[in-house]
Amino acid sequence: MKKLVVLTGAGMSAESGLRTFREMGGLWEEYDVYEVASPEGWEKDRDLVLRFYNERRKQLLEALPNRGHYALSELERDFDVTIVTQNVDDLHERAGSSKIIHLHGELKKSRSTIDPGLIYDIEGWELNPGDLCELGSQLRPHIVCFGEAVPAIEEAVVLVSEADLLVIIGTSMNVYPAAGLINYIRPGTPVYLIDPNDVITAGQSGITQIRKGAAVGVDELIRMIKDE
Ligand code: OAD
Repeated sequence: MKKLVVLTGAGMSAESGLRTFREMGGLWEEYDVYEVASPEGWEKDRDLVLRFYNERRKQLLEALPNRGHYALSELERDFDVTIVTQNVDDLHERAGSSKIIHLHGELKKSRSTIDPGLIYDIEGWELNPGDLCELGSQLRPHIVCFGEAVPAIEEAVVLVSEADLLVIIGTSMNVYPAAGLINYIRPGTPVYLIDPNDVITAGQSGITQIRKGAAVGVDELIRMIKDE
């Protein structure tokens, strides 16, 4: 089976009702990214950071995968698919995709602030001040903040460098190292981009853009690649 790597971003889940970050009305218009998504922000006001992610988690519990998530899981019948997602939601999992790498962490998990190896599932939507790991330190969201390392990037680089096809869905390609993954494709590898808007594509030519939302865009992609 051919290896297909799908890099997804917030636009993948937009039609599930989860807000993107950088568009008009996006989350970074309402919140200061450094207050809620940086190590300095966490040190300054932990309650604010916990509240921000509690709100995201609450909305996620009410959201459902959209047609695009399901179509990607159905692609596993014909391709060896790995999803490399910047999203912290679990909508790819819930739609049935079997190989998923979360570059930026997972909203439904918490992590110890003294031992990053201690990761727990969060029951419900709240992670509160005073919720402690087994060693007694405050739990934080299991999310990669700006300025922090992205531990899963090395595995993603290997996957992209071995891919027969790369599909990019719903990401503005502003955030590194995720946006740099496109540079690891082998020369000549077909790249498809599903996004209703213009996207910075790191100067790569030969990209086929499907200028649609993810929900209908993935079905169109499937029609285009079925003979690959
Ligand atoms: P952005 O908000 O930067 O970009 C969202 C992209 O989705 C844009 O290119 C939109 O045009 C596109 N889009 C909007 N609606 C869509 C739809 N229905 N179908 C397909 N595409 C659509 O989000 P990301 O690129 O994912 O990191 O942002 C990357 C990272 O920045 C996030 O993982 C997050 C954020 O700060 C952390 O929180 C660590």
